[in-house]
Amino acid sequence: MLKKITTAAAAVLLAALTACGSGGSGDAGSSGAPKANDDGKITMGFAQVGAESGWRTANTKSIQESAEKAGIELKFSDAQQKQENQIKAIRSYIQQKVDVIAFSPVVETGWDAVLLEAKRANIPVILTDRAVDSDDTSLYKTFLGSDFVEEGKKAGEWLKANAGGAKNVVELQGTTGAAPAIDRKKGFEDAIQGTDLKIVATQTGDFTRSGGKQVMEAFLKSVPQIDVVYAHNDDMGLGAIEAIKAAGKVPGKDIKIITVDAVKDGMTALAAGEINFIVECNPLLGDQLMDLAKKVVAGEEVPPRVVTEETTFTSEQAKTELPNRKY
Ligand code: AHR
Repeated sequence: MLKKITTAAAAVLLAALTACGSGGSGDAGSSGAPKANDDGKITMGFAQVGAESGWRTANTKSIQESAEKAGIELKFSDAQQKQENQIKAIRSYIQQKVDVIAFSPVVETGWDAVLLEAKRANIPVILTDRAVDSDDTSLYKTFLGSDFVEEGKKAGEWLKANAGGAKNVVELQGTTGAAPAIDRKKGFEDAIQGTDLKIVATQTGDFTRSGGKQVMEAFLKSVPQIDVVYAHNDDMGLGAIEAIKAAGKVPGKDIKIITVDAVKDGMTALAAGEINFIVECNPLLGDQLMDLAKKVVAGEEVPPRVVTEETTFTSEQAKTELPNRKY
């Protein structure tokens, strides 16, 4: 009998110890701040958008490499551009009691419920790359990423200065409802307002090369005069180039092309004169993200917004930059 009681007590003790060791994170502690695992290693759950573009591939690589370098255990999921998959991934990270959740929201709206669940579980959230549209800014600690409105503005300003008689612009939009699609459209429209330039057709190509090609093929059939393509990323611009060539026109000459990102493939087309101007969007967010994660897990204050520094490239500048381009 005594032996039975001792065994049961040992089992209860062991269960209690295991629970402390596996979770650690998410427990409020006396200060209310989340804690890293007992081995001191922080666990991050990262819910990525997908693998839709060259930019995204570079972004994923940067996050994975930086986590490894920073000694952060990374749980990574690919949502295949679907919001419901990201929500599922975030819920599973909450259940697993990770120390910090980071994600790049596929679309801007519809996050309050799941972010509230993370907040109630005392797991801090960091937004990377894309923002959410919520009135409750207490649902996340910080937002690290580009200023997409500024990127659209830079594209529009360049076109204004280099229109050379061009008037009719067709726009290849990013994923409907995504922050970069909404903001790059707005920035561009603001910049060309009051000029002869006009967006005569606009449609989403979902940030993919095949999407850009398909939409451009349709535009070339339905829009009588196209002077300029404004693509919200390089991949869609590269798809448009294929469609333009197939229609017997010369990209970069018969039709000017402006894109955003400046990944290697885009820069190669820019150097070759098939794209005329690229606004940079930097995907290498990994190191900054890991620094912010360490701070928020330690309960330190972080700035609510960290903006990535970026530049722009003309064809001549692309030729110089290409040999050093990392992604
Ligand atoms: O959110 C960043 C955007 O997402 C990049 O510009 C685009 O290429 C990607 O798909």
